[in-house]
Amino acid sequence: MRIVLGVGGGIAAYKVASLLRLFTEAGHDVTVIPTEASTRFVGTATWEALSGNPVSNSVFDDVHLVNHVRLGHEADLVVVAPATADLLAKAATGQAGDLLTNTLLMAHGPVLFAPAMHTEMWQHAATRANVETLRGRGAAVLEPASGRLTGADSGPGRLPEPQAIFDAAMALVQGRSDYQLPLAGRTVTISAGGTREPLDPVRFLGNRSSGKQGVALAVAARNAGATVRLLAAHMEVPAPAGVEVQRVETALELREAALAAAADSDVIIMSAAVADFRPAEVSDTKIKKRDDTADPVITLVRNPDILQELVEQRNASRAGSGQLVVGFAAETGDSQGDVLAYAQAKLQRKGCDLLVVNHVGIDKVFGQDSNAVVILSRAGSEPQEASGTKTEVSEAIIRRISFELNHVSPRA
Ligand code: C5P
Repeated sequence: MRIVLGVGGGIAAYKVASLLRLFTEAGHDVTVIPTEASTRFVGTATWEALSGNPVSNSVFDDVHLVNHVRLGHEADLVVVAPATADLLAKAATGQAGDLLTNTLLMAHGPVLFAPAMHTEMWQHAATRANVETLRGRGAAVLEPASGRLTGADSGPGRLPEPQAIFDAAMALVQGRSDYQLPLAGRTVTISAGGTREPLDPVRFLGNRSSGKQGVALAVAARNAGATVRLLAAHMEVPAPAGVEVQRVETALELREAALAAAADSDVIIMSAAVADFRPAEVSDTKIKKRDDTADPVITLVRNPDILQELVEQRNASRAGSGQLVVGFAAETGDSQGDVLAYAQAKLQRKGCDLLVVNHVGIDKVFGQDSNAVVILSRAGSEPQEASGTKTEVSEAIIRRISFELNHVSPRA
């Protein structure tokens, strides 16, 4: 397929090199047309080398080839990324001051805009009107992703991930012009890692959770277009870019953060390993090892079940009835029952909508890069299996969550 890839003048232009790679590796012939401003971010040499085609944005280069007409006519698809506020305005008003805008006016095939700009620009009435105009004329305009922007600010305005733009482009050529990222406009809260329950200022009760699964879920949800809040207990891996991170230590801190975040979340995924018990007393000073006293005895008290409380909070609020609550279960079978039987009982007890079940042993799952899970649904649909890397498993879980949100009626 012949693709014209227009590159706008935004910092996200650098990410478009990966998008170009996805197109060329899929066998497409790509002509890149960078705006003048975009070459301040990525030079034309990069586009020429990666596309294998000459690059220009002037209607006066190679005039005998009549590029300002030919490129648009011949393109099976035109993709503009990042589509800046300026480019959207130019396209909406039919300006033709350079090769890219000429090409947009001459395009015979589908046109996809992948916007990236600051939240206020995206939400400005002028941009909203331009987007509506373009959509009204049949162009596809993706919702930008949410998360960290160029400065310290965050919100909707990030360029969707290259793979997401690629998927949208392929959906568009297959005739699905209303394609949006499956979690566009949704807020997803994910807890990850293991809580630590202090005994004294230096000691704690912890667990083996690495946080890898929760972080992979955060990445998959972000890539699917969601605004992601990561409630990070102790993790061995760094938090990913483009998600809001709130650090928590204990189950009680996680409970407070989760109940607050749930108030405006479409999805809550409790992938953290929450300690079921905490020491009844936390010593202010380090517990001493002394020969003249008896060995210390640690008394434990039960932690609240956060997942269960999230379900209760959701069910108590009419407004929240569309919210999806997802739990994780790390189970081992025993002589009384197999893993799935225990997991089904847990799903009913906790009342969450989906339960992602791991089969654990000391060497399985915790800290590993791969995983195999079964997704159980309270609504009673068939158990769904997913296996592979934690990234692949997370993508399958996020696909299932998107399906439940977009195609299944409210739950509470
Ligand atoms: O009961 P169990 O610990 O096996 O349940 C696991 C699920 O419940 C996970 O989703 C975990 O994050 C959540 N959980 C919780 N609060 C607890 C214990 C577990 O939300 N105190």
